[in-house]
Amino acid sequence: MGIRIKGTGRYVPEKILNNADLEKMVDTSDEWIVTRTGIKERHIAADNETTSDMATKAALAALENAGITADQLDFIIVSTVTPDHAFPCTAALVQKKIGAGQCPCFDQEAACSGLLYAFNTAYALMSSPLAYKRVLVIGAEKMTSLVDWSDRSTCVLFGDAAAAFVLENDGDPETGDFYVAGELGADGNWSDILQVPGGGSANPPTHQTVDDKLHFLKMGGPKTFHMAVLSMTNACRAVLEKSGKTIDDIAWAIPHQANRRIIDAVAERIGCPEKVYLNVDRYGNTSSASIGICLDELNRSGNLKRGDLILTASFGAGLTWASMLIRW
Ligand code: ACO
Repeated sequence: MGIRIKGTGRYVPEKILNNADLEKMVDTSDEWIVTRTGIKERHIAADNETTSDMATKAALAALENAGITADQLDFIIVSTVTPDHAFPCTAALVQKKIGAGQCPCFDQEAACSGLLYAFNTAYALMSSPLAYKRVLVIGAEKMTSLVDWSDRSTCVLFGDAAAAFVLENDGDPETGDFYVAGELGADGNWSDILQVPGGGSANPPTHQTVDDKLHFLKMGGPKTFHMAVLSMTNACRAVLEKSGKTIDDIAWAIPHQANRRIIDAVAERIGCPEKVYLNVDRYGNTSSASIGICLDELNRSGNLKRGDLILTASFGAGLTWASMLIRW
C-alpha cells in the first residue's frame, strides 16, 4: 500500500526544571530521583502555553520535515490527556492554528499509550476503504497542569512536550507500510491506580474538589511499576510473534520513557538492552509525547535508515498498553 512516516517533528518548552530545583520545592533529592527514575530534568510549559500551542509547533516541524503544507492534510488525530478544554477537541484547535482547512479531526485518549493507539487508528483510517491519504498524528501533553507540586511521589516524574508525525500513503506497493504489527490492550480493573479523580462527570469541579486536590494526578507508584513491566514485556513479545521477527531483526527499541528502571526491566526481559533509545533523563514522563520525541530525535540525528525496524512499547492509565513494530 505504501503508508509511510513522511515527516516528524517535536516541541519542548524552553523552561527546564532540574532535580536541584525540585529539592527546593519538596522533600526530595537528586540522588533519590535519579536512582529511582533516571530523570535529571524535565521541560515545563509556560503558564499561558497550552497543549494545542505545543502540538501546533510540533505539527509545523513535522509538516516542514515531510515537505507538505497543512492544507494537504486529510485528517488530524491528537493524543492527549491534557486537552486545552473538555471540548472543543484539541485537534480542532491545532487544525485552525496550522491552517489545515476543514479536514476531520478528533482527540484520542489512552494516556501514555495514546500515541501508539493513534498510530493504529491512523493506519486503519488510511488502509481501510476510507483511504485517507495524509494523516497528521500528534502526541501532546501539558502534564504539569495535572501535577500537585507538593506531592513528592508524583511531581518529580512528569514533563511537558509534543511530537507530531505526517503519515502519507504514496500508493506504491513497493514502499512497504510503516505499520508492521501492533498489539493493543487494556484492563479497566486497574483504573484506580492511576487517575485524576476530579474535574470530570464523576466529580465535577467544585470548591470542595479543589480543596481536596482531586484535580491532580494520583498514582499508586509500585503497582503501576509492576503492571508496566508486565504489560510492556508481554506486548513486545506478542508483536514480535505476530510479525515473525526476532529481537535480532530490530534496529531500535523505543519504550515509553516513564522510568529508567521500568525500561531496564523490560529491555532485560525481551533481551535488547543495547538497542534501547533513552531520553527520560532529559524530559521525564511526557505521556503520549514520549515515544514521539524519541522517534523525532532519532530521525533528525540521522540514526534511522530506510527499512529499519523499530520496536515501540507503552503503558498508561486505564490501564492501557500497546506495542508496535514500525518499519522506517
Ligand atoms: N523523594 C524522596 N522520597 C520519596 C519521593 C521523592 N520524590 N517519592 C516517594 N518517596 C518516598 C516514599 O514516601 C517512600 O517513603 P516511606 O518508605 O518512608 O514511605 C519511599 O520513597 C519509597 O516509595 P515508593 O513509592 O515505594 O518508591 P518506589 O521505589 O516504588 O519508586 C516510583 C516510586 C518512582 C514512583 C515508582 O514506583 C515508579 O516509577 N512507578 C511507576 C510510575 C510510572 O511510570 N507512572 C507512569 C504513569 S503515567 C500515565 O499513564 C499518565
